[in-house]
Amino acid sequence: MTDLMSLPEWAALEQHRDALAPQHLRRLFADDAQRFTSLSLRQGSLFFDFSKQRITSDTVRLLIALARARKLDQGIRRMAAGEPVNFTENRAALHIALRARRTCHVAGQEVSGEVRATRARTRALVDDLRTGRMTGATGKPLRRVVNLGIGGSDLGPRMAHRALAPWSDGRIAVDYVANVDPRELHDVLERAHPDETLFVLSSKSFSTVETLTNARSAREWLTRELGEAAAARHFVAVSNNVAAAREFGIASDHCFALPEWVGGRYSMWSAIGLPLACALGMDGFEELLDGAREMDEHFLDTPWESNLPVVMALMGIWNTNFLDAPTLAVLPYSHGLADLPAYLQQLDMESNGKRIDRDGHAVMVATAPILWGGTGTVGQHAFHQLLYQGTRTVPVDFIVIAGDDDPAQRILVDNALAQAAALMAGRTEEEALAQLRAQGADEEAARWLAPHLVCPGNQPSSTLLLPTLTPRSLGQLVALYEHKVFVQGWIWGINSYDQYGVELGKQMARALEGGAAAAAELLDGSTRGLLATVAALRATNRP
Ligand code: F6P
Repeated sequence: MTDLMSLPEWAALEQHRDALAPQHLRRLFADDAQRFTSLSLRQGSLFFDFSKQRITSDTVRLLIALARARKLDQGIRRMAAGEPVNFTENRAALHIALRARRTCHVAGQEVSGEVRATRARTRALVDDLRTGRMTGATGKPLRRVVNLGIGGSDLGPRMAHRALAPWSDGRIAVDYVANVDPRELHDVLERAHPDETLFVLSSKSFSTVETLTNARSAREWLTRELGEAAAARHFVAVSNNVAAAREFGIASDHCFALPEWVGGRYSMWSAIGLPLACALGMDGFEELLDGAREMDEHFLDTPWESNLPVVMALMGIWNTNFLDAPTLAVLPYSHGLADLPAYLQQLDMESNGKRIDRDGHAVMVATAPILWGGTGTVGQHAFHQLLYQGTRTVPVDFIVIAGDDDPAQRILVDNALAQAAALMAGRTEEEALAQLRAQGADEEAARWLAPHLVCPGNQPSSTLLLPTLTPRSLGQLVALYEHKVFVQGWIWGINSYDQYGVELGKQMARALEGGAAAAAELLDGSTRGLLATVAALRATNRP
């Protein structure tokens, strides 16, 4: 494929960037009273203000020309038609089929029936569990669900569960265990009783070491108390590898299939969402799917100028490739969305942290941003300092829930808007001086201190405003980011749906499991030294 940087559309954007560079965002706002109106979009319950990005309407026009040159329309059509956009694994990436009303196909085969059938089975299990009809080995109703999974088999349901906690009636307690560090499982099991606990073993591949190790420990904990036969009633599995789940001892009617064409990090809409559905009830879970479907329909049908995922993706391309911003901070001003940055980290960085294009050539431009973040206002008292006076451009996505008129909620929202405004406007030396004089500082001291108070501002940000956090608005929000990632991956020409990189670390870990001696040839001096030090420390720890 044509090298991105050799496209005339790329050169036009570079020229435009250079021309725009001297203009501070303050100036852009001062020059255009309509800026907020022309650089914001509304879709469903989401309002997206991107007027604090370092752009003008011309930037949007030029970025859309770039998307056109990269044949984004073809990409969207191929993805929605179930063609193998995951080109290295020759697979579709059709997570939209999990929430679609229309009939969807993968490689010409209708898949909507399969989706409906799994959903119906999920509903039956969720209903049985929530009404106390699903009992364990001792006849007691199962009241606690423990999800054992990692990455895409954990982060989505975990994030949504926390976000939607007020929507859960507490009939079923749900916990998530991802880490192979035994502490995590131990802490969860400490508050669980074997006779009322259901384990959901979530693993697309059913070969992930962490998940299988935790599953074995959980089974041991359960059967120690209830006997071997009990496991059958206390474990269900969600996997694309049903044969392996059966081999693990999970009954067929407790296995839920995860289609191959759903990537792990795009799977919370499938039976991987089971623990979430147990907490919310199936109707709440389906409302989440409805929200996502609304965003899908918008994405597939809306001209790019007013297409929320496309515009958001283009802002990212602009910041990453033209402003050279290496990171994206996601700052939800919502305690419920505390796990969103971690979820988006996998979605964005595992999808687009790539360097080779469809033709096997190196991508000559930066790809996925380093995504990080945390909740406001907590971060204001920690890392925001760097956003104000550090030396780098740090684009931010502020996510703000308008909420109700509760006084604390008002403080939260005011702070979010204030941060976006202050990061944009900054504080000049004259303003700092005026402030110090007004506080009564003597002239010499004021002049000495003023440079330390200067904040250059001009930090680009977008603000996503949601009226309330509901299953529907969360579905819209998550699907928005999914499509954003797709659009960016398509423009960069990379495969957003494989993850060969992480395999290298797994191979190395497997080699180490055989012991330092077995892995000696593979290992560098540092790792050999560390292994020997670990062994010595363990020996001294031995009682
Ligand atoms: O190692 C990365 C990864 O494969 C992710 O892509 C995936 O979400 C996670 O591990 C868990 O995989 P699985 O669902 O197959 O256990």
